[in-house]
Amino acid sequence: MPASQEAEAVIRVRDLAARFDGRTVFEHVSFDVRRGEVFVILGGSGCGKSTLLKHIIGLYQPAEGSIEVLGERIEALEGAARQALLRRIGVMWQSGALFGSSTLAENVEVPLEEHTGLPAEARALVARVKLGLVGLSDAALRLPAEISGGMAKRAGIARAMALDPPILFLDEPSAGLDPITSAGLDALITQLARDLGTTFVVVTHELQSILAIGDRCIMLDKEAKGMIAEGDPRRLRDESQNPVVRAFFRREVMA
Ligand SMILES: Nc1ncnc2c1ncn2[C@@H]1O[C@H](COP(=O)(O)OP(=O)(O)OP(=O)(O)O)[C@@H](O)[C@H]1O
Ligand SMILES: [Mg+2]
Repeated sequence: MPASQEAEAVIRVRDLAARFDGRTVFEHVSFDVRRGEVFVILGGSGCGKSTLLKHIIGLYQPAEGSIEVLGERIEALEGAARQALLRRIGVMWQSGALFGSSTLAENVEVPLEEHTGLPAEARALVARVKLGLVGLSDAALRLPAEISGGMAKRAGIARAMALDPPILFLDEPSAGLDPITSAGLDALITQLARDLGTTFVVVTHELQSILAIGDRCIMLDKEAKGMIAEGDPRRLRDESQNPVVRAFFRREVMA
């Protein structure tokens, strides 16, 4: 998209620092996520990807800096205002756990029970629609133990979409999946972004996924304690002069 038509920012992170017990995970992190894009957060294990997500959705308070989500300073919100904003964000966590003793349909209904006054028939209808969107219409009555890992990830996305959030966060959606299932999940994310206009923030370190789905990305680095790259992942692969970024995108072993 040309610069003049750039979509508005739905997330603005400015000079964010995360520290635990005085230990800095990252600092000086600044970026925008634009409406309708698939934004990828990447970097090696332990660099702070999940920690960054937890800040953006208000689970952690910034040590420094500010975070704006859908025009509101999430770290400053409390009570009903905070709940209202959180309803507009869907999250699929890295652990991704579905409730084991509930069917997939019941799992998708959980956020509807928690956050809406919809009657049971309406909840069931919404659950059926969401499971349909991720290709699980036929599995609505199955238990999590009765489905494959890829189906469980898709069910997790359906649950995260229950309240029609304009922003969906996915923490390593394709971890532990075979390459074909993983590619199917990538296609689903791209399709949902295109067809529903949903903004995706996806944490992954799977290079193929990043190149397949990412409109833009940032790369965090544990040693640098912050961002070492930002932009179109394909351009970073072809043009970055940073040795860590090059090593990651070109699968080179660093000297
Ligand atoms: N609540 C917490 N208390 C203390 N330290 C924490 C907390 N949350 C995260 N950390 C630390 O922050 C660092 C980054 O962790 P994080 O889980 O964000 O990494 P990650 O990039 O998501 O890694 P992975 O790719 O393995 O999921 C780690 O050193 C972790 O121990
Ligand atoms: Mg993580």
